[in-house]
Formats: sequence, C-alpha cells, structure tokens
Amino acid sequence: MTDKSSNAQSSNAMWGGRFAAGPDAIMEAINASIGFDQRMAAQDIAGSRAHAAMLAATGIVSDSDAEAMREGLLTVLSEIEAGSFEFSTALEDIHMNVEARLKEIIGEPAGRLHTARSRNDQVATDFKLWVRDQIDAAIAGIEALIAALLEQAEAGADWVMPGFTHLQTAQPVTWGHHMMAYVEMLGRDRSRFSDARARMNESPLGAAALAGTSFPIDREMTAKALGFDRPAANSLDAVSDRDFALEFLAASSICAMHLSRFAEELVIWSSAQFRFVTLSDRFSTGSSIMPQKKNPDAAELIRAKIGRIFGANVALMTVMKGLPLAYSKDMQEDKEQVFDAADNLMLALAAMEGMVRDMSANRESLEAAAGSGFSTATDLADWLVRTLNMPFRDAHHVTGSLVAMAESRGCDLPDLSLEDMQSVHGAITGDVFGVLGVQNSVASRTSYGGTAPLRVREQIARWKEVLK
Ligand code: ARG
Repeated sequence: MTDKSSNAQSSNAMWGGRFAAGPDAIMEAINASIGFDQRMAAQDIAGSRAHAAMLAATGIVSDSDAEAMREGLLTVLSEIEAGSFEFSTALEDIHMNVEARLKEIIGEPAGRLHTARSRNDQVATDFKLWVRDQIDAAIAGIEALIAALLEQAEAGADWVMPGFTHLQTAQPVTWGHHMMAYVEMLGRDRSRFSDARARMNESPLGAAALAGTSFPIDREMTAKALGFDRPAANSLDAVSDRDFALEFLAASSICAMHLSRFAEELVIWSSAQFRFVTLSDRFSTGSSIMPQKKNPDAAELIRAKIGRIFGANVALMTVMKGLPLAYSKDMQEDKEQVFDAADNLMLALAAMEGMVRDMSANRESLEAAAGSGFSTATDLADWLVRTLNMPFRDAHHVTGSLVAMAESRGCDLPDLSLEDMQSVHGAITGDVFGVLGVQNSVASRTSYGGTAPLRVREQIARWKEVLK
C-alpha cells in the first residue's frame, strides 16, 4: 500500500470543502478499508458503470460524459487486474480510490459520477454483488461434493457397515446409505444458499445516502443491469441492512458444521483402529518424527473451519445489533468477516470433494465391523414379533437375554445354537438364523428412506436427476 502524500497531508479531496486539516495517522489507520475492500473492485466498477449509463439515459449527465466514465472505469479495472493500480490509504476505500483514479484518467466528467449516489448505496451494492458471487460459488462447490458422494454411494450401495448411535454399534447400514445422508444435508445447504440468493437480490443502488434522491434516476434500469430482480423498496433499509451477509454466514455456518461432522467421521474411519477408509496420499500428510504416520490433516482442518465461519457470523450479528438507522461506520466491519468465511468455506468444500473423490472404502473392514457388537439384535426381536406374534417389549426382553448369553460366551448372536436360543424361548425355530446375517438385515430395511440397497439406489438416481 503506497500513500499519495499530498492526499495524506492536506484535507480530503472528496470532502475538503468542510475541512481545513487532514486526518491524524491513527484516524487514517482506523478509518481506511482499502486494505480489504479492494477485493470488491470489480463489483464497484460494475456498479459505477451501470450508474453512469443510467445517468445518461435519464438526461442527468451527457452521453459523452457517461461514455468517458464508462470507458475510463474499464481502464481502472484493467489496471487493478494487472496489479499496476496504486491503492491509497488516504483515499480510504475502494470507492474513492476508483473515483480518484478515474479523475486522473478522464478529468472533469469523473466528478459527475457521484451524482444521485452515495457511498452508502454504493457499498451496499458492491457488497451484495460480491456476496451473490460467493453464493453461486458455494452452490457450485456443494454440487461438486454431492457428485463425488454419489460416486462413492453408487460403488458401495450394498456394502454393509455398522450404523452407530452414541458411537456404539447400533444396526447394520449400507455404505451407500451413509454417503447419501451427507448428500441430503448438503442438498439442504444448497437450498439455503439459493433461498438467501433469491431474497437478497434487490438493488440498493439509488437509495443514495439514506433518503433517496431528487434527481430523476431510473432504479429499475440499474437493478436490471446488475442482475438484480428489482430495486429495494425502502432507501433507509437498502443502505443499512446487512442481513444478506448474515444469511450467507448462517448458511455457511450450517454447511461448515455438516462438513465438520463428516470430517470427524473420516478422521475416525481412517484410524488404524477402524480402517473403514483409506485416504489418498494427495490428501494426507506425514509426520516429521514418526515414519509410519499418515495423518488426515485435510479432514482435521475442515473439522476446524466451522470455528472461524461461525465466529464471523457471531461477529457480524454483534456489529449489527443495536445500530440505529441508517448507515453507521460500524458496518465497514462487515467485510473482513464475510471474506474470511467465504474463502474458508470454498476451501473446505473443495478439500472435502478432493478427499471424497480420492478415498477408498475398505469393504472387508466395513463388513467385518458390521456384524460385531450384536448389530442384528433388533432383527432378532423383529423376527420374534413377526413370527411368534410376541409384543415388541417382550421380544426386546428375550433378545436381551440372548445378547447377554452371547456376550458371556464371547461370541456373536449367529454363533449361538438353536438349543441355546430355545433355552431362552422354546418357540424359536431355526428360521431365526436367516435374519441374523448383516446382508439380510440391511436388505430387509426397505421402508422409504431406509438403508436397503434397493432404496439407496433409488435415492442415488433421484439425486442424479436433481443435479442434471
Ligand atoms: N468504506 C465504507 C464501508 O465499507 C463505505 C461507506 C462509507 N460511507 C460513509 N458514509 N462514510 O462501509
């Protein structure tokens, strides 16, 4: 960041009329946002170009002035993109940096660009455009991750694994079913982002400082040019709310929370104790001291990202609470939180997609674990209900006794003999062994939304259709 010393020492070029002296260096440091809001340069220039075209169309400025502004703004954009633009802290923010450079390039007409506009509607517009782009990026990232999960689900639609509650073996499920659980979560994340996008897509531009303007502007025109559905209907609201950014952060927090849960499962599953999955070398790291180690660092970092993303949500909620209408400078603190959250969400989505694409599920380990821990005890109880017409509570009790017997002998339920079973309940027949196998167990759970491979494949097909 270089300072144009003339600006730093004399009063500000944009409002110098009222001021005799320039700001203290500390004032400048606390006030400036150019260090971060330069990320909105493209949006700022798009907004200004739309505004300039509208000013000409409504006869507020001449066609030739507007043309000069629009062309000059493109030059500014190309300088910023090329990295040759000199950002100035004295010029505070991206809006004034761009306008000042435009003045250097096109001269007098640049001074007419800010007619019927304020930095308040300008920044709200820029920021909305930026957040809208991030929503689109988040949706694309989620869809790519869903596609990777669908591949995993399809490959292992009928592979059995233990399903857990309390991280204790509960009932066997299929690998495909477990993958599809995350597809459902991510599907809702995707719709949260698109709901937020639809709600936020109203243009603040033309709200001016807070009250609107006496110039005969055309807000429909600028709204349309910037891809908004309509202009925002209340100028006070348009310049002063940041709920669109908060919705983005809330949706990001929930999505990151889902990623964090999955990441935790990958950490557990890739351990030597579980061996459910093998992560690729491309998404693992080694240890500098322990040669045998292969660490799931990407998963751990994804697991941690929720912290900063949720932190950003809390921070911006806290900034906004209690602010009187309309704009207050507090609101300049909105951007860094959202920038950081967006960067980290996109990174987490991409890393998760890469990990899921690369990982291999260890079918044998999954299957071996699926049958342990008396995972088909519920199937046994259900059999007693179905075959012997026993009330479920009684069946639960009989099964519990059989589990205790197996446990005391150090074996699994299918290892008990028919005589063992009949010693607990005389009416049990040899048919019962048919439901004690994990394959039969999962195949029997055909209720809608259940883990049966048949049902899982239906859901995979549905999601492929959705993503088309
Ligand atoms: N840099 C400011 C921000 O991010 C732009 C708006 C400034 N408006 C004002 N009235 N000081 O919020």
